[in-house]
Amino acid sequence: MDVDLRSDTVTQPTEEMRAAMARAEVGDDVFGEDPTVNRLEGMAADMLGKEAAMFIPSGTMGNLAAILTHCTRGDEAILGDLAHTFLYEAGGMAALGGVHPRAIPNRPDGTLDPAQIEAAVRADDVHFPVSRLICLENTHNRCGGAALSAEYTRLVGEVARRRGLALHIDGARIFNAAAALGVPAAELAGPADSVTFCLSKALCAPVGSVLCGDGVFIRRARRIRKQLGGGMRQAGILAAAGIVALETMVDRLAEDHLRARRLAAGLAAIPGIQLEPGTPHTNMVYIRLADGAPEAGRVAERVRARGVRVEPRDARRFRLVLHYWVDDDGVERTVAAFREALAAG
Ligand SMILES: Cc1ncc(COP(=O)(O)O)c(C=O)c1O
Repeated sequence: MDVDLRSDTVTQPTEEMRAAMARAEVGDDVFGEDPTVNRLEGMAADMLGKEAAMFIPSGTMGNLAAILTHCTRGDEAILGDLAHTFLYEAGGMAALGGVHPRAIPNRPDGTLDPAQIEAAVRADDVHFPVSRLICLENTHNRCGGAALSAEYTRLVGEVARRRGLALHIDGARIFNAAAALGVPAAELAGPADSVTFCLSKALCAPVGSVLCGDGVFIRRARRIRKQLGGGMRQAGILAAAGIVALETMVDRLAEDHLRARRLAAGLAAIPGIQLEPGTPHTNMVYIRLADGAPEAGRVAERVRARGVRVEPRDARRFRLVLHYWVDDDGVERTVAAFREALAAG
């Protein structure tokens, strides 16, 4: 089998997940009658330290549902210029919600400068949109998979409260952040009014994300989910895999981080490969090809011919993502494949 490091979204469900899906007790979730979805939502809310939760088809829809629940047309959301929500969610907040994104620079560690957040909050003036929401991302995908600390998140939470804004966290990989920082995910989510996390990435489930918040917020978000076409019927089939993900995949994430460090060390020893500063923070290794090395597309083809799938981020960079299906042997095969690919000149 190929070693696939393109993303942690490529993860196949485990046999245990498939078995749980086959025997899942189900009902109509739009009526609130799917016991398996209800159980997943209860578990997720507990783990994130929130009152309530809502199962939703994707991380993109989870973030959008959160933003549209917090904001109305003409409101503004302050977020990072490298945020997934800003770059890779097809402008959903603007296209579907009339919400104006106000992007401020992400620092290399994935954070936003709290002073810049505060400076971006609009004065009450008819010329301006209404500042309503701050969005953070933890771990931060485009910033090397960096984990944002609980202390930093509290600081931003204080800015939000002081200025009367809500705080949403795109926590697609918040359990990776929790594992890296050695704190419960609930501590990272604590200062936020809402948080989404993905079951379908590092946690290996085939489909689904969860949006968590207080009871009133989640009740309102359910109407938005319906508007977006995300109300699913016998969704317990999917939620069953999500429950197995929460039970079996959260506590093992540190293994992926350890393998990411081993992979980084192995690759760093290859002439022509440079590690990006700080990498790996969690389960992502960002590497750069030195001047004189072949282009990333050629390297990717050569590595692929050796049974390792990687995707260039640009002509000289790769993001390699560790997950459940990459074991120690996969790490060694990857290092060997890159060594041979670069030795080929
Ligand atoms: C940080 C982050 N947020 C949100 C998403 C969106 O998730 P989905 O692909 O389930 O829509 C992703 C997807 O890779 C992500 O990396």
